[in-house]
Amino acid sequence: TLNLYKLILGGNMEILAHRGASGTAPENTIAAFKKALIDGCDGFEFDVQQTKDGKIVVFHDWTLERTSNGQGHLRDYTLEELKKLDVGSWFSDKFKGEQIPTLEETLDIIPDDKLINIELKEEHSVERGTENKVLEIIKRYPNKNIIVSSFSHNLLKNLKELDSSIKVGILLESALVNLDKYIENLGFNIDGYHPSKSFLNQKDVNYLNSKNIDINVWTVNSSKDAKILKDMGVTRIITNFPKEIKK
Ligand code: G3P
Ligand code: CA
Repeated sequence: TLNLYKLILGGNMEILAHRGASGTAPENTIAAFKKALIDGCDGFEFDVQQTKDGKIVVFHDWTLERTSNGQGHLRDYTLEELKKLDVGSWFSDKFKGEQIPTLEETLDIIPDDKLINIELKEEHSVERGTENKVLEIIKRYPNKNIIVSSFSHNLLKNLKELDSSIKVGILLESALVNLDKYIENLGFNIDGYHPSKSFLNQKDVNYLNSKNIDINVWTVNSSKDAKILKDMGVTRIITNFPKEIKK
């Protein structure tokens, strides 16, 4: 029924802001999340990692160089040390002094009606129990609408075993020949399928819609691609430019 409804209405594809409105503000910062809210996004995607002292922060790369004035691996620094870094200036002087946000600080500024896609970065996460720590924090926000995604499907499996009520989405870098078989053999239920826009096909979209699995496609920065994906029946797209794509 849901799919028939979708077909008749032509679908209502939602827009998630990739690392915040990262096309117009420095990625994974409070400034980028606030900008995305102003832009009218339906939700957010951002990346999380664990600091040396076991805190969960929002940051994409393993290393600090590209988006901060720090050096080396993020996991080798405590939260206090990381808070001293500037993650705004590399993007523009206008954002000088922007700090790495914690997961809690980020969740605190996102309204309850927005979808929150937390991407669990996988390097060393299993050994360090990052998924446990993320889960502990998520549980303190029962009113938030959260889906956790990861390229590491083992991490998601661990999460599901810890708490079966948590929503998870599998991230994929390349196409699977038999997506249906892969999903059926995962050993846990998924709520989302998160492919790159480069390999999504109509057969997979139809299969996923028939199973009521959300299709959240990244990273879609052109209106032309957004329109094609909408017509295919995709649930959401993840974009650096929520304002332009929404238009
Ligand atoms: O979650 C979608 C997308 O963000 C995955 O790739 O490298 O941008 O984290 P990346
Ligand atoms: Ca990501």
